Amino acid sequence: MPRTILFIFGTRPEAIKLCPLILRLQQAPERFRVRVCVTAQHRDMLDQVLAAFAIRPDYDLDAMQPGQTLYQSTSRILGALEPVFKDAQPEVAIVQGDTTTTLCGALAAFYAGVPVAHVEAGLRTGDLRQPFPEEMNRVLAARLTALHFAATERAADNLAMEGSTSNVWVTGNTGIDAVLYVRDRLERGEMVAPAAPYLDAGKRMILVTAHRRESFGEGFERICRALAAIANRDDVQLVYPVHPNPRVQEPVDRYLRGHRNITLLEPLDYVRFVDLMRRAYLILTDSGGIQEEGPSLGKPILVLREKTERPEAVEAGTVRLVGTDVGRIAAETSALLDRPEAYARMARIHNPYGDGHACERIDAALREFLRL
Ligand code: UD1
Ligand code: UDP
Repeated sequence: MPRTILFIFGTRPEAIKLCPLILRLQQAPERFRVRVCVTAQHRDMLDQVLAAFAIRPDYDLDAMQPGQTLYQSTSRILGALEPVFKDAQPEVAIVQGDTTTTLCGALAAFYAGVPVAHVEAGLRTGDLRQPFPEEMNRVLAARLTALHFAATERAADNLAMEGSTSNVWVTGNTGIDAVLYVRDRLERGEMVAPAAPYLDAGKRMILVTAHRRESFGEGFERICRALAAIANRDDVQLVYPVHPNPRVQEPVDRYLRGHRNITLLEPLDYVRFVDLMRRAYLILTDSGGIQEEGPSLGKPILVLREKTERPEAVEAGTVRLVGTDVGRIAAETSALLDRPEAYARMARIHNPYGDGHACERIDAALREFLRL
């Protein structure tokens, strides 16, 4: 009898990092009965990923509301998961990362007496308020988890320091499986990203994303002012797919819309975004996933945050933390634009977060746990 595995996810990054694992487990229907529950904590950004991987959820909780607060999304998602567990009767529930959906999925599984498998376990900044609320979500998820899939040895060490030493597997990050899959197919011409007519071939392209809650307000305004200052150079073009959160849209509109060297876009589907990362000269971001993908693509990343839970590439010198100070962001960006030797040191392909085979290792670990 196949064993029922329930995937629970809700945001874009969780979807990008779990869809390759869903596709893999679905290939063995004699072993696994795969059930997919999306909370739809995100709506359009989630649906973009589901379409790219051709995954049709069995349960869609349709939880997103415009401008939702943490209280609202947490209570809606947790409440809506109770009937899903009753109906699916899973033997293992799989969650990923550090979002509200991750925490609610793990807690709901605990209430149902179902072992939780946590993909991307053990990331820590050591500061419960940065990133907020993700660091707390990770710590709480680890307490609720039975199977920890850590991307790196460092992440496994973090879990060990908190007392989680059994059922920890170092697997690599499934996000690297996803990005290398798309990159290889783009390079071989087996996938084609739609044209990007807004790109100016005569300028170096700087790709930008930003959405962290702890920066909202003054920190985010400083990021916008730094971007405007960088874009005053006529040898660069900033391309910025803007997160739909109203707390992001408002300052971006106020500071950046209409600037001649800034192209503001809607969130891009994953293939388009990987294609843009390949074409970028450098990337400015506060994203977690992009900090992992950049090194695998050989793109320097300047991280618009004070702390990171992904220190491996910082230590290797291909990712640098620049915070939210206007002068520092502008100066570090200028250094990479004007000093070829500084650029060359950071533009190095390496894979500290995975080798593209994380899903295989997680599949093997699940079989070991379920004695399959
Ligand atoms: C969430 C995660 C964060 C992750 C990010 C990825 C939490 C607490 N935060 O933050 O860890 O890095 O997703 O992007 O779980 N919205 C839309 N359409 C969408 C998605 C969002 O309009 O497809 C807007 C809505 O107004 C929504 C708001 O963005 O209310 C915020 O979404 P939410 O999921 O609460 O937080 P994120 O900032 O996206
Ligand atoms: N991404 C995407 N389209 C975009 C911006 C980002 O597909 O317009 C991808 C990116 O390649 C990475 C993931 O979304 O895999 C990161 O998501 P996000 O930054 O929203 O969340 P985080 O990783 O910070 O939790």
